[in-house]
Amino acid sequence: MKELETLKKEFETNIKEIKTEREVDDIYLKYLGKRGIVNKLLAKLATLPSGDKKVAGTEINNLKKGIQRLIENKKLLLTTENIEIGDLTLPGIKPQIGHTHPITQMKKYAEDIFLTMGFEVVDSVEVDNDFNHFETLNFPKGHPARDMWDTFWTKEYLLPIAHTSTMQHRLLKTRKPPFRAIIPGKCFRHEATDTVHEHTFYQIEGMYVSKTASLAELIGVLESFVYTYYGYKIPYKIQPTYFPFVEPGLEMLVEHKLKNGQKKWLELIPAGMIHPNVFKMAGVDPNIYKGFAWAIGLDRLVMLKYGISDIRDFHKGDLRFLQQF
Ligand code: FA5
Repeated sequence: MKELETLKKEFETNIKEIKTEREVDDIYLKYLGKRGIVNKLLAKLATLPSGDKKVAGTEINNLKKGIQRLIENKKLLLTTENIEIGDLTLPGIKPQIGHTHPITQMKKYAEDIFLTMGFEVVDSVEVDNDFNHFETLNFPKGHPARDMWDTFWTKEYLLPIAHTSTMQHRLLKTRKPPFRAIIPGKCFRHEATDTVHEHTFYQIEGMYVSKTASLAELIGVLESFVYTYYGYKIPYKIQPTYFPFVEPGLEMLVEHKLKNGQKKWLELIPAGMIHPNVFKMAGVDPNIYKGFAWAIGLDRLVMLKYGISDIRDFHKGDLRFLQQF
């Protein structure tokens, strides 16, 4: 049909001149919209004699398909033309890749040192009951020393652990002496925070049980650990202290240099010989076995390694701090 030929040519000229997506929408409506040219032609079919209907119908449909195809092509062309192609020779942008937290890195490092000394690494629980957290550690109900660790209780009478010593009874029940293990874990305390106290921090509990374990061995293990960890003979001192689950109890303090050059002692690792009552609660005979235990304050250990002056920096989530490690 001549009319269709003219229409086709007219459409082809119009679409060539189109420069924007908006104009594409307009031409679509004009030709293929509900009240567009093509639909009007199709409506006219009804008026044709039945013999011509079929031929005309096919031609109109071909025209419709042709118009659709050209509109799609134009759309594509305009989209790709609008993409700004920059300087392809510029180097790519490196995606920022994260890394493990400094405490995680140093936990791993500390674990490696103990592994070379033959210690097994056991994960701590994060929530525990009164039995493991207090009773088995020689804190009977009402014992005044409970105050320090008696923190947040759930309705089920469980608490987020305040110290990794909560694992001692489990290890005594499940290991046959002699054994040695370290137990890193996350601790939670009701704490007035300051530069060396956080409400959430990490400890690495240690246990060594054998027939001959001694205080001298305990100090030897701790000394080897801190010398290896810091890479030099860091000055330390040992002083007596009290915990109901050790007898005698001691703590290792290490020298801490402040920014102004002043030196201070920082309490880092409390420890002691495992109390006979703790052994008895686990069915281990204290007349045959001896043992020692400790808990390293991991956050403080890392602070001294890197000269970090405020423990609260670890969990602030400040990237400027974290990216330094
Ligand atoms: C205890 O938690 C005992 N369970 C340690 C122990 C284990 C003694 C085995 C004997 C035998 P203490 O509350 O002092 O003790 O904590 C141990 C260490 O954890 C501290 O020396 C310190 O390095 C670290 N620590 C304690 N409280 C905090 C805190 N709020 N923020 C950061 N580190 C802490």
